[in-house]
Amino acid sequence: MILERTVLKKKVVILISGTGSNMLRIVEESQGGILRNLCKVCAVISNNSEARGIRSALAKDIPALSVSSEGKTQEQFEQELLKQIGQWEPDYIVLAGFMKILSPNFVAKFPRRIVNIHPADTKLHRGLNAYKWAFQNKLSKTTITVHFVDENLDAGEIIAQREVDLVGVRSEDEVKSRGLAVEHEFYSSVLRRVFV
Ligand code: GRF
Repeated sequence: MILERTVLKKKVVILISGTGSNMLRIVEESQGGILRNLCKVCAVISNNSEARGIRSALAKDIPALSVSSEGKTQEQFEQELLKQIGQWEPDYIVLAGFMKILSPNFVAKFPRRIVNIHPADTKLHRGLNAYKWAFQNKLSKTTITVHFVDENLDAGEIIAQREVDLVGVRSEDEVKSRGLAVEHEFYSSVLRRVFV
């Protein structure tokens, strides 16, 4: 029975660019939490060799490496990324603060198999600086979106959304820390449903 569960686990590669706090939570949930029987994080790949997340992943015994896009065309970068990803034959690619836009060509290779978390309602705000947007617009709440990635930026099929209460926030940093606290719990709970 245990063997059967191991075989059925989804293989996941996580792409990051920076801190990797969402990645770390997913790794922790896969190693001993709500994703334990559902997925194995095979590797973490960053497009930024300085990303703090690389060290955090290695500290959790997850293979972690960088594929830099510097001085490369999008096609060259993605070819190298595909080569690295390919060695793990993942069922899913999970984007967690990955700041590069993937080309339609790349996305087409993994239909409904690339998942992203976006810190806003993707129907209201796409692209960068979503927490700044929420703060500047004095929103009393914002919405975190987990969605499949398609060829358009932050526009793929929505899997689930969760609200973040912003009543009383005094700074953009406070918006971000309230938002991230929700993201950390929410992302794994949504992935749990995706991976069954
Ligand atoms: C998160 O807010 C995520 O929603 C966005 O980028 C940020 C990444 O944070 N796409 P971290 O690297 O997971 O700490």
